[in-house]
Amino acid sequence: MILILKNITRLLTPLGKSPIKGKDMNSLKIIDDAFLICENGTITHIGEMKDCPKFSVDSFEDSQIETIDCTGKTVVPSFVDSHTHLVFGGYRENEFMWRMSGMSYMDIMQKGGGIAKSVELTSEATEEELFKVAKQRVKDMIHQGIGAIEIKSGYGLDCDTELKQLRVINRLKSECDAEIVSTFMGAHSIPKNYKQKEKGSGEYIDFIIKEVLPIVQKEKLAEFVDIFCEKGVFSISESENLLSHAMELGFKTKIHADEIVTLGGAELAVKIGCTSADHLLHASEKGIKNLANSNTIATLLPLTAFCLKEQFANARKLIDSGAAVSIATDFNPGSCFSFSIPLLIALSVIKMNMTINEIITALTLNGACAIDRGETLGTLEVGKKANITILKYPSENFLAYHTGINIVEKTIINGKVIPAN
Ligand code: NIG
Ligand code: FE
Repeated sequence: MILILKNITRLLTPLGKSPIKGKDMNSLKIIDDAFLICENGTITHIGEMKDCPKFSVDSFEDSQIETIDCTGKTVVPSFVDSHTHLVFGGYRENEFMWRMSGMSYMDIMQKGGGIAKSVELTSEATEEELFKVAKQRVKDMIHQGIGAIEIKSGYGLDCDTELKQLRVINRLKSECDAEIVSTFMGAHSIPKNYKQKEKGSGEYIDFIIKEVLPIVQKEKLAEFVDIFCEKGVFSISESENLLSHAMELGFKTKIHADEIVTLGGAELAVKIGCTSADHLLHASEKGIKNLANSNTIATLLPLTAFCLKEQFANARKLIDSGAAVSIATDFNPGSCFSFSIPLLIALSVIKMNMTINEIITALTLNGACAIDRGETLGTLEVGKKANITILKYPSENFLAYHTGINIVEKTIINGKVIPAN
């Protein structure tokens, strides 16, 4: 199967397989009047239209050739949503309204709402119910140009429900067009039955380490382990304990760091070598500096800050200091019931002062690296998977200028064209 994109008005891509750091995030390879060819799901040729090889249909007896005319369109690598919690039961729409009338995310959590509510609703749902809703969400995300998605567990908090969520994520992996990466986040909150005993004793973390992680490892249900490192949730030492055990078992790691208060999550991420540190609204000066001097990706989630009416992470400072920044949705039933890529881009430009080139780098190659897919995804280069997003307009600026509007015309995943619905 050969797919040819011809007469591409403008093609933009970062280059390489590693995260792009600091000011380099602003430099993309740009080809005006370009072509791109993929064979069997892999990019094989790319360049200026004048150099486009002519294919004779006769030389491909067994293959089909599909051509897409991209006159007036912009082509970029498919977006990567490197941080979601998209498998969950039920909704928490009342909490959104409570927050709007002044209650804080932590107030709601301490009153037994928040994550605990979704845990209840997720344990009541069957695997089939969770799968059906999640599959539709993945489809809707693909129509916004997304080709790969990380999904976390963490609405179980007991062994069976965590494993149920992970099985759903793994079924999505085999039944969805998008590439799915699974993260075990049993350490999302302290479950009700541990609350009395806990008080920073680390008992629940010990339970995860002894009882759940070995099963997740044995059944190969997750690639990453993540933890909500936050005041009143899991401490720095509990986070270090869990994530270093996870690394010993061969997992890669992520951390919800410095979201609500400055705790030192960014510093810990760098110290133990997490693939990414996420949120970072309240990362300290030292945390930002350490991230800039490391290979840990700073994943920013402005949709969450927006929905929580919180300050935005300091993207400018992170990038100007030299960090590799990615942006993602954090789609979840509580703090951010949105996977809107158009809104994510609008907030990144308008509120976090990122340039459009930095945003493309953050949403493609750096996102891919945040889920350890830099080798195969995130750029338009020969040898990479044909994960390509075609935009309806002739320049990348429309991503921000057409504010809050989905301008994706087609998403191509592994060479398969998925039209916008
Ligand atoms: O990334 N911060 C912790 N976890 C999610 C929120 C989960 C929820 O409220 O259900 C987040 O914002
Ligand atoms: Fe999250």
